[in-house]
Amino acid sequence: MRKIGVLTSGGDAPGMNAAVMSIARSAAKYGMPLVGIKRGYNGLLRKSTSLGDDLQELQLDTVLDIADQPGTYLRTARCLEFLDPMWREVAVSTLRAMEIDGLVVIGGDGSFQGARLLCEMGIPCIGIPGTIDNDLAYTEMTLGYETAVQVCTEAIRSIRATSRSHDRPHVVECMGRHCGDIALKAACATGSEIVVVPEVPWSVEEVAAKLNRQIAKGNTRATIVLAEGCWESMAPFDMYHFLTSHGKECFEGEPMSANRFASTMKRMCGMVEVRSTVVGYTQRGALPVAKDSAFAFEAGNLAVRLLRDGVSNQVIGVKEGKVFYTPIEDALKAKKNFRRDLYDLVNEM
Ligand code: ADP
Ligand code: F6P
Repeated sequence: MRKIGVLTSGGDAPGMNAAVMSIARSAAKYGMPLVGIKRGYNGLLRKSTSLGDDLQELQLDTVLDIADQPGTYLRTARCLEFLDPMWREVAVSTLRAMEIDGLVVIGGDGSFQGARLLCEMGIPCIGIPGTIDNDLAYTEMTLGYETAVQVCTEAIRSIRATSRSHDRPHVVECMGRHCGDIALKAACATGSEIVVVPEVPWSVEEVAAKLNRQIAKGNTRATIVLAEGCWESMAPFDMYHFLTSHGKECFEGEPMSANRFASTMKRMCGMVEVRSTVVGYTQRGALPVAKDSAFAFEAGNLAVRLLRDGVSNQVIGVKEGKVFYTPIEDALKAKKNFRRDLYDLVNEM
């Protein structure tokens, strides 16, 4: 194998740049030219007017400078065309025309699906897990998760200080798509009193009862940590009728949100105020913590070595604290084990 390519795909994640840096360092070491593919799989579809918008020879000097930066230098995207076999043919012909013999795909399970299909079409691929969500069951670490938890933890600590000063309970929403791990870990790290996740069915009334118990015990600044996907597992609740009948403007058919949930809690618990904060993109756009960067460094090198040695169709991960690799197909089949014990521990107060 001579020339290889690298792309980042799906939501960006802290540590993606560190992985690209490591890939560039390793490729240079093994004498393999490296091409950066822009905006996920889009960069292979030849839709831009200039080739340079899609593909870029990566020089080690340039890439060394981006190692510690947040975001992804290569840009990222969700490329829906890639679900279509016709567009995947275009991608393969681009790779062949550019004489790119193998690809490192940094992304989550969707990106790995794409990599698996490219392997079936004869393009050797290695995946590096890059997603803040921690929703990949086969690995103990994904790039960006530790950073996202750190950002949420710092946000919740600050929020709890203000909440204590003003005797105001607070609702904090963390990211994670269908996975409650960021919210759960941040709730544990901050000693928050209530956590709500997509993995466990819940109701508005039940959370209000828990908050009321806290208030009755004198804890008037309790924190409710929500995972953004928690609305998926919420029992039906007529927010429109509840809020409008309690003096809060609300429109029929509007979805529940952290803000409307906080308004509901305020009214169900008789508090003067319950406020909400959505931590949002500060989680994805943060500087990677050392653990994420160090994993990126090791994973980037392993990915290049695997391609160099003719190994393909694998994803890299961490098992029992050690970096390892496993077939993409097995990784995608693995079932996530939610830490119900920790969830119960947070909520038992
Ligand atoms: P993540 O990789 O973080 O899970 P997405 O699920 O949004 O993020 O997937 C990222 C991209 O991977 C998609 O926009 C698409 O280009 C590609 N992809 C996702 N699922 C598939 C699939 N089943 N087949 C081919 N490509 C896919
Ligand atoms: O997968 C990463 C992630 O940040 C999820 O936590 C979130 O649900 C999703 O991406 C948001 O994506 P976007 O910024 O494209 O709406």
